[in-house]
Amino acid sequence: MSFIQRTHDCGEIHAAHAGQTITLNGWAHRIRDLGGLFFVDMRDRTGLVQLFIDPATFSNLQEIRHEACLSVTGEVRMRSEVTRNPKMPTGDVEVFVTSYSVLSPAKTLPFPLSDEEQMANVNEELRVKHRYLDLRRPSMYRKLALRARAISKIRTYLEEEGFLEVETPIITKSTPEGARDYLVPYRLEPSKFYALPQSPQQYKQLLMVAGIERYFQIARCFRDESQRADRQPEFTQLDLEMSFVTQEDVLDLIEGMTRTVVNELIQEFGLAKERVEPFVRLTYDEAVLLYGCDKPDLRFGLPLFDATTAVENSGFGVFRSTVEAGGMIRGVRYPGGANLSRKEVGVLEEFAKEFGAKGLATLAVVDGSAEEVVYTSKSGLGVKGSIAKFFSPEEFEAILAVSSAEAGDLLCFIADGYAAGNNVLYRLRNEIGSRCGLRDPRVLKFCWVLDFPLVEWNEDEQRWDPTHHLFTSPKHEDLIYLDSDPGRIRADCYDIVCNGTEWASGSIRIHQPDVQARICELIGLSAEVAQERFGHMLEAFSYGAPPHGGIAPGIDRLIMLLTDDENIREVMAFPKVGNGYDPMMDAPSTIDAQQWAEMGLRLS
Ligand code: AMO
Ligand code: AMP
Repeated sequence: MSFIQRTHDCGEIHAAHAGQTITLNGWAHRIRDLGGLFFVDMRDRTGLVQLFIDPATFSNLQEIRHEACLSVTGEVRMRSEVTRNPKMPTGDVEVFVTSYSVLSPAKTLPFPLSDEEQMANVNEELRVKHRYLDLRRPSMYRKLALRARAISKIRTYLEEEGFLEVETPIITKSTPEGARDYLVPYRLEPSKFYALPQSPQQYKQLLMVAGIERYFQIARCFRDESQRADRQPEFTQLDLEMSFVTQEDVLDLIEGMTRTVVNELIQEFGLAKERVEPFVRLTYDEAVLLYGCDKPDLRFGLPLFDATTAVENSGFGVFRSTVEAGGMIRGVRYPGGANLSRKEVGVLEEFAKEFGAKGLATLAVVDGSAEEVVYTSKSGLGVKGSIAKFFSPEEFEAILAVSSAEAGDLLCFIADGYAAGNNVLYRLRNEIGSRCGLRDPRVLKFCWVLDFPLVEWNEDEQRWDPTHHLFTSPKHEDLIYLDSDPGRIRADCYDIVCNGTEWASGSIRIHQPDVQARICELIGLSAEVAQERFGHMLEAFSYGAPPHGGIAPGIDRLIMLLTDDENIREVMAFPKVGNGYDPMMDAPSTIDAQQWAEMGLRLS
């Protein structure tokens, strides 16, 4: 089929084109049929422009349906003063159509594309099933464009820093990152399977043994794990590795790259974000102590406080018994929370219970002269609340001091073990931050979390598991704890966290086969199993492996941070839905009898 090709893009038409005859190719985005007047907002990937089609000239206008594909020729005219649309970049003009053809008609869409606000109500699975329509929306195009530019800028930056982009295999052997593998049957030997890589971790280390020295890849990773708002079974990392480096070299490079790339993107796309400042640095221990987790949102303060010593002898049984059982009383301030009704505090308590809290104890801090105050402090603060009757003046003074309480605060206490309590408190702190408007969407607060523990105790399996992965180097000075107290060994391991999301993880790696063998042993891999799974790594390390380290920031999560999207699906062209299913392709799907036979597989 021949058609008249465009002379211009929809989004570029403006006053200077007035009087010109132009041809546009695109889609009928929005149609307004006002009887004697027929308007179409025509869309292509550059934007929208209004067409005016005279019903007196054309008899078959009902063929122009929502999302039909069109070629249109007409004259650009200035709109009258009253009909100008300042909200539209092309709103000063319209195209007076002299001829058009429908290149491809559109049947009724499963959901309308003309109204961005309405899209919020469209079923998510339906959108993914018809992703080719969903992606027609200008906002989706913009996200894909942002993603493409981010990747392009990362490439440019790293190439200028001397990095080589290397592709590594997709059908390979399991690389353990803590999730389940996706497996691919091997036709020639039915008992054997490839695994899709959870990350290119082993290949990138082998590239260092190979002398590449500076490697990166925009790498697809595959993990069969339960999905969350920021997790997809298939996602993209900027995977990077460097030889002859210290931890500081890796941090410098990535921080420099991130700030440059993100600041350029903010400017190029006019994002409502402030420039990225130098990253904050916290050790893992500090992060957990101050914010209850290893991924703190540092856009606001409100550090957790520890009231264990302040209340350990109090008359409040819940607190006393928790301390007696070896637990702690830690808490967080809720500025302005003193005004909450009993019911509203109940809602907060339910929130805490969702994450395993046994309860939520609260004290309201108000002005000392307010009503119902049980205690007035030396500095004139009043304390009230149902549990206030349990504390002595000394205990009140100590609570107010450790919490740095101010008038208007609701002090929220969780009595529990350190880890269980933190698991509730960090979420409570984020919730309070959101309620108080402290999580400013214009700010991207990046921070390094350093010195993670090398291993953590897995109670279910009764063994030590690597906190990051088994190739992570222990801190040399902590190796003395290898036999006596493995939980004390810190690793040369670092994360980047932004606004409460883990964005990147990396580490300096083990490059000596004997240390690698000892770590395998520590995490319960027998010499035989280690040899079977990682023999190639141990052997490679025995041929002059250089000291090396690297990191892998998640590309999808970076785009989410830039677009303020809460679901990772929004920043991927073709995401999966809830259970790893692709409703558009209908994958996974069954295979036919011949494929079963060829693969030597059968269902048991
Ligand atoms: P890790 O497993 O921590 O480290 O992953 C690094 C980063 O990848 C992103 N990410 C994900 N994004 C979307 N969906 C997922 N399911 C998902 N899982 C991880 C996150 C995360 O911070 N090989 C190591 C890196 C290294 O040591 O160099 C690794 O993969 O942004
Ligand atoms: P109870 O004695 O169980 O009625 O609890 C009295 C108050 O203490 C209630 O407000 C509970 O929510 C709260 N509470 C109970 N257990 C805990 C806990 N482990 N940490 C914090 N508050 C708790």
